[in-house]
Amino acid sequence: MKALKSALAAATFLATAGMASATDLEVTHWWTSGGEAAAVKVFADAFNASGNNWVDGAIAGGGNARPIIISRITGGDPMGATQLNTGRDAEDLIQAGLMTDLTELAEKEGWADFIRPSKLLDSCKFEGKIYCVPVNIHSFQWMWLNRSVYESNGLAVPGNWSDFVSSASALREKGVIPLAVGGEPWQINGMAGVFMVALGGVDLYKAINVEKSADAAGGAEMTKVFEAIAAARGMVDDGFVGRAWNDAANMVITGKAGAQIMGDWAQGEFSVAGLTAGKEYDCLPGLGVHPVLDTGGDAFFFPKPAGDKPDVVKAQLEMASLLVSKQVQVDFNLKKGSLPIRGDIDLAAANGCMQKGLKILEKPENILPSGEQAWSSDTQGQMEDLWVEFFNDPDMSVADAQGRYVEIIKTAN
Ligand code: GAL
Repeated sequence: MKALKSALAAATFLATAGMASATDLEVTHWWTSGGEAAAVKVFADAFNASGNNWVDGAIAGGGNARPIIISRITGGDPMGATQLNTGRDAEDLIQAGLMTDLTELAEKEGWADFIRPSKLLDSCKFEGKIYCVPVNIHSFQWMWLNRSVYESNGLAVPGNWSDFVSSASALREKGVIPLAVGGEPWQINGMAGVFMVALGGVDLYKAINVEKSADAAGGAEMTKVFEAIAAARGMVDDGFVGRAWNDAANMVITGKAGAQIMGDWAQGEFSVAGLTAGKEYDCLPGLGVHPVLDTGGDAFFFPKPAGDKPDVVKAQLEMASLLVSKQVQVDFNLKKGSLPIRGDIDLAAANGCMQKGLKILEKPENILPSGEQAWSSDTQGQMEDLWVEFFNDPDMSVADAQGRYVEIIKTAN
């Protein structure tokens, strides 16, 4: 009888101990499209399998989610973990000491040895300590084309931007919208950044985004970028204002439009729609002109819990460790359409577009600093507003727009 009692006591202890280690973490993010939801589920399933509990806190749209996330943390109502962009989104929160320090874990697991390019981890650092974990590499420098739309209309599938421009009117005559665009500020701003590299060249991009040169911003090379945006204005449909990026992607997927210039998260939508890279759709990194990638992307941050909650911090560290683990990195990035933050995993399952991206990443000279890491949120906002105004107003001249752009660069921080 005594043995039975002690066995029951032990079982009860283990059960409660096991339950005690199961911690709820509310996780905020803005991954609500089909492809994004499929990808974030990989993270949630992995965290739940670790014996903890992922409480999903999805908020649609980065522009909505970011201020909500930041104000909750500054307001003393922190979530357990949150996605934000790699870069300066959480700069003030980190400097205010509101984020859990991941340095000990990062050093124990050797993150610096396998996270590449190293600037992804650098953008998580403040005063030598690490406060976020990069989870993917996204680049805006992509154009997505519906191959079938061109082939079924007897047109060659464009191999670069100028091919695309030359066949745009023929496509429109066939009743197909040449370029699918969503009118949200970050989308127009992102497209402008793609033109800057693809048409202006890497040197122009760096002169502006790294050296912050007002001369480069006002120069002839940059004029070509404004002219391309003006040309793109003529290739869209009237319904672009306010359109979500994944709805624009869906126009290409369903053949309503020929192409979209969008970050590689769009590939997650093609994958969920069952389309195959190189077959029904294709991809042009750097618009097929300058195949380079900006290395923006996403990172997870772990706000310090309100009050002393060691179980929450323990679960935060368990999640951080999972997100950079090899298998989770492979499974997540294949669904997200992004590239993994570690160079030591087997991505044989990667599709043709991801393979193009991995090839480009092999050469450091092909890697650009993403705008998110270069500009403060305020400067980024001013640029977005200008691009949106220029794209929406056909009466706004290239000269006027470029003049205002120079002023923004002159006062940028
Ligand atoms: C970006 C984010 C991507 C994707 C995209 C569209 O900021 O890095 O993961 O979600 O927004 O929502």
